[in-house]
Amino acid sequence: MALLEWRNEFSIGVAEVDYEHRELIKLINHLHQTLVEGTSDPQTAEFLGEIHSAIAAHFALEEKIMRESRYSAYPEHKEDHEALLDEIREIMDDFDSGAYAAGKSDLGATLTAWFGQHFQTHDAKLHRALG
Ligand SMILES: [Fe+2]
Ligand SMILES: [Fe+2]
Repeated sequence: MALLEWRNEFSIGVAEVDYEHRELIKLINHLHQTLVEGTSDPQTAEFLGEIHSAIAAHFALEEKIMRESRYSAYPEHKEDHEALLDEIREIMDDFDSGAYAAGKSDLGATLTAWFGQHFQTHDAKLHRALG
C-alpha cells in the first residue's frame, strides 16, 4: 500500500505545483518501498539525493510564486520548507554514517507525516490566497 495518496484537496490550483505534488508523492512512495526492500546502500543513497533535489526544486517554485504574488504568509511557509530540507539532510548524514540502518530515523514516515501536514496547512492556505 502506498504511504501517501494524492487527494484532490491537496490541489493548489496552479497546474505546475499540483503536478509536482503528485510526482513528489510518487517519489516518496517509491523511496519507502526501496527502504522496506532494503535495496543496496549506494542505490538508496543516490535516491535520497534525488529526493532532496526534487523537493528543493519544488519548494523553489512555490516560493517564487509566493514572492511574485506578494503572499503575506511567505516567511512561515518558507520556514517550514527549510525545516524539512534540514531534516532530510540530517537523514542523509545518518545514512552515510550508518546510523540510519540502526533505526535512528524513519525517512518514509518523516516525509509522509510532513507532507500530509504541510499540504493541509501551508499549501492549502496558499491555495486559498491564490484562488
Ligand atoms: Fe508544495
Ligand atoms: Fe509548500
